[in-house]
Amino acid sequence: MSMQPISPEPVLRATTGFMAARLLGAAVELGVFDRLGSGSADQDELGRQIGVPPRRLHIVLDAMVSIGLLARQGKAYRCTPVAVAYLTDDAETDMRPFVRFMHRMRYESWLRLEEVVRVGTDAVEEKARSQEEQAIISEGIAAVTSPAARALADQYDFSQHQHLLDIGGGTGSFLRPALSRYPQLRSTLLDQAEVAEVARRRMGESGLSDRVSIQSGDFFTCQLPADADAVLLANVVHIFSPERNRELLGRLRASAAAGSRLLLVDFWTDASHAEPAFAAIMAGEFLLASGEGAVYSVDEISGWLRETHWSVLEHVGLAGPASLVVAEAV
Ligand SMILES: C[S@@+](CC[C@H](N)C(=O)[O-])C[C@H]1O[C@@H](n2cnc3c(N)ncnc32)[C@H](O)[C@@H]1O
Repeated sequence: MSMQPISPEPVLRATTGFMAARLLGAAVELGVFDRLGSGSADQDELGRQIGVPPRRLHIVLDAMVSIGLLARQGKAYRCTPVAVAYLTDDAETDMRPFVRFMHRMRYESWLRLEEVVRVGTDAVEEKARSQEEQAIISEGIAAVTSPAARALADQYDFSQHQHLLDIGGGTGSFLRPALSRYPQLRSTLLDQAEVAEVARRRMGESGLSDRVSIQSGDFFTCQLPADADAVLLANVVHIFSPERNRELLGRLRASAAAGSRLLLVDFWTDASHAEPAFAAIMAGEFLLASGEGAVYSVDEISGWLRETHWSVLEHVGLAGPASLVVAEAV
């Protein structure tokens, strides 16, 4: 009986994964998806529109076909439904800022992965960032977390709360859907000064700024508002080591009244840390970004919550790999 040869496909796909990422980044930066939108164009026409020689452009276009973001009929290319939904001006969730963030700001850092895994790092360069760079980072994070932000406002009943404190709230992308849906809710967003600046701009544009107080500070050291009856910690735990997370959860508990809620949104994994698969890959990003980050399992976060006097109420899925752990101060 002849044995089926084992396919090398997982090895080849992972080895060339960075090429696919760079090709997608180039397609976004060249404006391929913006130009095509819901229409179609051949490579000559598209090349003229975006100012790139068609002979080289088609390499990027055909790669996008191979990963399912463009479809080709004869010489004409068009966006597939997934590209229309996530990479065009008609997108319900525009993921282009996330692609841009990874493409422009994170690639270099990944060159050091092996070294950081081997010896760790105590030198995560805190380079001064321009306003433009900070906006790329914060808008990129908001793009990838926005499906979860919308799902949280749809699924969690904020009608029981008056004051929502968003710790490490970024651009305010979680607050906007919650405030829009729950008119009784007011909120405080706390983040580092340069991010708070981006949040001020974005909240101003949304017309919700009269219900948000934006504070800048370090959440490990600054005074936390004591009257919030719900605290949101979205995509913050993965930045830190277990020790620092226990410290942060303890600080949040110290300023929370009994009965107040803590909502923890993240890429919580199962006990293996390998599911959801997206979380297992992003763990490398979290390690590199802060020098101490990782993804954590529902069991791990639940254990730290209990140690810091929060009782865990439930764990529910939100959108894609993101889920919500709800805890209450006891
Ligand atoms: C991954 S982002 C999450 C942003 C937002 N919550 C979301 O889910 O889209 C983490 C945020 O925490 C903020 N942050 C990290 N360490 C902080 C600290 N010590 N004090 C205040 N903010 C901090 C970062 O500036 C960043 O905006």
